[in-house]
This record gives sequence, C-alpha cells and structure tokens, in this order.
Amino acid sequence: LDINFELPSAQSESTKNVKIGIYFATWWSLNVVFNIYNKKVLNAFPYPWLTSTLSLAAGSFIMLVSWAARVADPPKTDFEFWKTLLPVAVAHTIGHVAATVSMSKVAVSFTHIIKSGEPAFSVLVSRVLLGESFPLPVYFSLLPIIGGCALSAVTELHFNMIGFMGAMISNLAFVFRNIFSKKGMTGKSVSGMNYYACLSILSLLLLTPLAIIVEDLKWVAAQSIFYHLYNQVSYMSLDQISPLTFSIGNTMKRISVIVSSIIIFHTPVLPVIKDADSP
Ligand code: 3PG
Repeated sequence: LDINFELPSAQSESTKNVKIGIYFATWWSLNVVFNIYNKKVLNAFPYPWLTSTLSLAAGSFIMLVSWAARVADPPKTDFEFWKTLLPVAVAHTIGHVAATVSMSKVAVSFTHIIKSGEPAFSVLVSRVLLGESFPLPVYFSLLPIIGGCALSAVTELHFNMIGFMGAMISNLAFVFRNIFSKKGMTGKSVSGMNYYACLSILSLLLLTPLAIIVEDLKWVAAQSIFYHLYNQVSYMSLDQISPLTFSIGNTMKRISVIVSSIIIFHTPVLPVIKDADSP
C-alpha cells in the first residue's frame, strides 16, 4: 500500500522537475534573444523609457488578443485583484525602466553582472522587511556574489554611474515585485502567465504618461493622435463624396499644409519670376 502511495508522488515530483527544467531553459533562451535585440534597439534609438513602454505594449497586446481569441483563458479578476496588483506594477515599472536605462548607458554584460546581485537584495529585503531568517550558508553564499559585483564595478573600463545605479535600482524593485507577486499568485485562480499579463497592462498604463513626460515625447503622441483624427474626418467626408471629389479636396488641403509648413519651418522660398530690377 505504501509503495502505491509513494510511486505517484515520486513521479509527480520528477514531472514537476522536468517541467521547471523546460521552463528555465525557455526563459533563459528567450531572455538572451531579448537582451541582444534590446541593446541593438537602444544603440540605434536611445530612448529607454519609450522602448520600455513599447515592450509592455507588445505584451499587453499579445495577451489581450490571446484572451479575445480564446487562445488563452482570460483571468477572472475583480477590483480587489487590481488594487493588490498596483504596488507590484509600480515595482515592475521601476525595475523594467531602471534596467533598460542601465543597458542604454553601459554594456549589457555589465548591467547583468550588477543584476546578478539580485539574490543578495532578496535576502536583505526578506530579512529586514519580512523578518524571514535564512540558514548561515545562505548568507555565506552571498559573499562571492557581492564581492564579484563590487570587483566588476571597480574594474569596469566604461563605468557609468547611471548604468550602475539603474541595475541596482532594478535589483531592489524586482525583489519587491517578485515577493509580492508570489504572495498575489499563491492560492489564487490567476495563473502565472495571466498574472504577468495583467502586470504588463497595469505597468503600461503607469509608464506611458511618464515616458511621454521624461523623454519629451509629447510631439510623438500629438503626431500619432492627429494622424488618426485627420484620417478619421477624411473618411467621414469620403462617405459622403466620390473618390475624385475626395482627391480634389485632398489636393486643396495641400495648399494649407504647404503654406503653414513654410511659415513654421522657415522654409526658404524664391519667387518664380525674378524682379526686372533685381541683380
Ligand atoms: C527588464 O527590462 O525588465 C530587464 O531587462 C529584466 O531584467 P531581468 O533580467 O531581471 O529579467
């Protein structure tokens, strides 16, 4: 009887280990690809707040479409869920932006060396704020990590304080995020995948106005909104007129664009017919 009881549990334990092994391998591979493309984007386009926002927007979009298409089951959430998620989203937003700002200033490798100090932050926060205690070997195991990070920081050839501080802030913020995310997920009906999706959506809402302010993206926002608005009204016109009348109206519109852009951008213009008295 004992054997019958032990076998399934031993099996489920090994199945769980295989599953976690697959999760880890996939997580790491995806992260390597993300880091390489993220740095390529930041090299060409040094707006870390905007690129951080776009990352969250992509995740939110993918998950909203997946829920709508029933590729993934949408989570059953209530107001209490979103209220509890808010501080986690604040921590996620800070950690994500800080890491991206760091990577925009220093080599990806340096950011990740500093970010490998995350377990030390986790132990510190759990000990100081949550009163959790750990066995002595845990504290000793942190010493080489802290030593390695310190050594790397003082010997880094292209040290940059914003890059260093960004990685440190990211460590602290992500430790809070992870601890409170785990509390928020444990015993709840929302799966890890859906929990992260909700976190992305809330972080996106928090980060978008901040990115617009910090990176002075108000013209980008205005350009995007006005693009939609003018096309929307043009289609309201097209609904009432023929395509030819539409094209003629569109050509007449260009007179106002040409005149206003010459005035605003001080575009130099010459008269077509020269004055007879001019040299
Ligand atoms: C981010 O932008 O959120 C970070 O690159 C993520 O850092 P991580 O390696 O700790 O996930």
